[in-house]
Amino acid sequence: MNAPETEKWVENLKSLRREELRPGMILGQDIYNLGNQLIAARGAVLTDNIITKLQYYSVLCVYVEEDVPAEAAVIPEVHSWVVDTKEFHEFQKQYDSDVEAFRNDLNDIVEKNVKGDIDHMYEGVQKLASAGNSLNVLEMMRNLRKYDDCTYTHAVNVALICNILARWLGFTEQEVELASMCGLLHDIGKLKMPSEIIKKPGPLTDEEYAIIKNHTIEGYRILSAKGIDQHICNSALMHHERCDGTGYPYGLNGNRIDHYAKLVAIADIYDAMTARRVYRGPLSPFEVIQIFEDEGLYRYDTQYIITFLQRVADSYMNAQVRLNDGREGTIIYINRQEIGRPTIQCGSMIVDLRREKGLKIAQML
Ligand SMILES: [Fe+2]
Ligand SMILES: [Fe+2]
Repeated sequence: MNAPETEKWVENLKSLRREELRPGMILGQDIYNLGNQLIAARGAVLTDNIITKLQYYSVLCVYVEEDVPAEAAVIPEVHSWVVDTKEFHEFQKQYDSDVEAFRNDLNDIVEKNVKGDIDHMYEGVQKLASAGNSLNVLEMMRNLRKYDDCTYTHAVNVALICNILARWLGFTEQEVELASMCGLLHDIGKLKMPSEIIKKPGPLTDEEYAIIKNHTIEGYRILSAKGIDQHICNSALMHHERCDGTGYPYGLNGNRIDHYAKLVAIADIYDAMTARRVYRGPLSPFEVIQIFEDEGLYRYDTQYIITFLQRVADSYMNAQVRLNDGREGTIIYINRQEIGRPTIQCGSMIVDLRREKGLKIAQML
């Protein structure tokens, strides 16, 4: 490319936040992760999968070509069967009242000089975790999400996922409570971030990114000043650290990261990746699992991440799904080697997604 062409090309680029991206847009830059591996190349047509990968690697904004279609693909949304159950309605009621209560509790901790009643806050999470105990709590959670998820709903979601994961890992009742509270308070530092930056439309400057990343240190300061349990403080500080040293704020290696923070890291990224987007409903859990598997599990605690992905997949055993070629079927087998690619019975056909790489679960029914 000669010089004038380069200029023209740069002129046509537009920087967009991840939330503004749509499938169909053309990527205007190479995207690397912190380990310097290429995630997506310049010129690639954005897909839902690439956008979710950007989420996985915490990429906040990217350049796209300016002349992209304004109305990009809108993927029709299908409501899961859980939405019509009595349990789901109870869960939704409890969830709404919890988010309201947590909004007040978290603001009190940040603005007034109160320690916060940890046991009281935990009661809400516990009620929620047992609200639909006969149904799949993760599936209910996936279906009540709105795409304008805020810090408070994210806090409740992460607390709930931590609660579930801690139980799967065989934690004691006391440890389950601690893990839930680590999840609930992990992003408390965000409430101290200037709202002009949090709500700023369009791209952030490097300085603004640095301020956002500082929510970890700020959260640690707020909590430790109140004498709150050290694991809770550490989870606020270290939930963006990754076991391979590619996280922030300090780039710690796995052996230096608090094990509660490692648990929160998984719950945090799972919640962010399954989020509803403006152009589609919530992502299928198997697509999320596939991204974890494709991108490598080494960034997370091995035992925690394998238990998490396996148990999430197991909870969808016998679930009805639609594949990306339109066929519908039932999940009949979870392949331990590739958890994100189970075996589906479609009528009289058995479809093993490990063998048919072009196929994937597009929707849960
Ligand atoms: Fe965070
Ligand atoms: Fe978070």
